[in-house]
Amino acid sequence: METGEIIQIFAESGFQVDPAALDMLKTSGSPELIKKLLCSIDSSVMVVGAEHIRGAPAIVPGKNGITMTVPKVMAPAISSERKNKLVSPLVTVIKDISNQSTCIGEYTDFVGYFKDRYTLLGDMLRKRISARPIESLRKRNMDTREPLSVIGMVLNVRTTTNGHKLIEVEDSTGTIPVLVHKEKDTELFELANSLLMDEVIGVTGTISGDSSLMFANSIIRPDIPNNQNVSLAREKGRGKAVFISDIHVGSNTFLEDAWLRFVDWLGDDIDYLIIAGDVVDGIGIFPGQDRELAIMDIYEQYEKAAEYLNAVPRHIKIIISPGNHDAVRQAEPQPRFPERITRLFRDDITFVGNPAMVDIGGARVLIYHGRSMDDIIAGTHGFSYGDPTKPMASMLRFRHLSPIYGGRVSIAPEKKDHFVIDSVPDILHCGHVHTVGVSRYKGVLMINSGTWQSQTEFQKRMNLQPMPAKATVVDLANMEYRITSFD
Ligand SMILES: [Fe+2]
Repeated sequence: METGEIIQIFAESGFQVDPAALDMLKTSGSPELIKKLLCSIDSSVMVVGAEHIRGAPAIVPGKNGITMTVPKVMAPAISSERKNKLVSPLVTVIKDISNQSTCIGEYTDFVGYFKDRYTLLGDMLRKRISARPIESLRKRNMDTREPLSVIGMVLNVRTTTNGHKLIEVEDSTGTIPVLVHKEKDTELFELANSLLMDEVIGVTGTISGDSSLMFANSIIRPDIPNNQNVSLAREKGRGKAVFISDIHVGSNTFLEDAWLRFVDWLGDDIDYLIIAGDVVDGIGIFPGQDRELAIMDIYEQYEKAAEYLNAVPRHIKIIISPGNHDAVRQAEPQPRFPERITRLFRDDITFVGNPAMVDIGGARVLIYHGRSMDDIIAGTHGFSYGDPTKPMASMLRFRHLSPIYGGRVSIAPEKKDHFVIDSVPDILHCGHVHTVGVSRYKGVLMINSGTWQSQTEFQKRMNLQPMPAKATVVDLANMEYRITSFD
């Protein structure tokens, strides 16, 4: 069976499945068998593991593959305080690259990848403008006075000698330069000034007499709707979630004392702990890193990280997504940690890829480590590492987490563009920049959760000031938040 199909059945029944159980079911499961299995599992079980499959039903080979007899499952012990809670925390993985990767990195893969991006983002724009193919603008009998619209990917942006902006946009039929006059419309000029390579935009304007140039009247981005309805928990008491990232276990600047204070503080009122990448410092991530490591072996770094995270109160559901310091492929999207790493951790942790969309207690959280922020900050006037929610709001405007190809993010050309924000999350959670920022954009709560590492030599040289040892707590019932310090 396909991984996605299995996860879907589990999600519909309100369970998660761990990787070992998933592997067993992939080779020997069927939809009927899994549904029967899930009916038999105690509702207090959150993550169905291999032990549930082995222990619950007797799986015996039958005429049509596999049949099951009466199941019996022992539920894990739950503290008396948690029993008093009306709703158990629940994690459902909605979107994740793990086990879905298709690319081998050939030229045709890139063509397919960018086509998918253009189609997905173009469809969002087509709901707002009626665009025509760029090729059709060159027809001779065209009325050049009537404004027309096109949807294209930004190929190039430059400033003319007179200070206007010239943007080259491309669709599958051709390219056209678009002129944005510096004195026509300040807002439009500002927008043109903030455009990044490879984002998909809609342009409305008139065509020059020789059809070689478009004069822009307006430019739109896919963006999220103004009336974004945050799915405030449909019932009260859907839980509290803590958002952190960039723990960097193994670095000699990892703040162990602050971390231990944080874990001590995690109480009965917290239901979820979401970690947006860089669990460990890694090995060989930058030149001379070995001089800044306290643990030189990558697996020992994860063993230590597992020790820290396994000490988190058992009732808290932990979700871990990787970052650029973690031991998965560097090209993004990144899959979840391999089994050799996940098995070091307690078995109820949900490991997802980067990016990933998860549902926690009715709230949709888009987790992305945030490496693209290096490119977005570098490419946008007025953005800085001190305010990480500005580039995060840009991602929501682009409806894309990492538009620039050929920058700091190495993009793997998957068949589907996993960076497209197709459904709008309630919370966008990033890390990577080691600064803390929480803010809202059109109803989406944006959290950059900082770090658990003090200033590194590299950051000193770059004059980057981290904001370590902070955790953002969100009440999922009303999306109110507070930031708590542990330094
Ligand atoms: Fe980091």
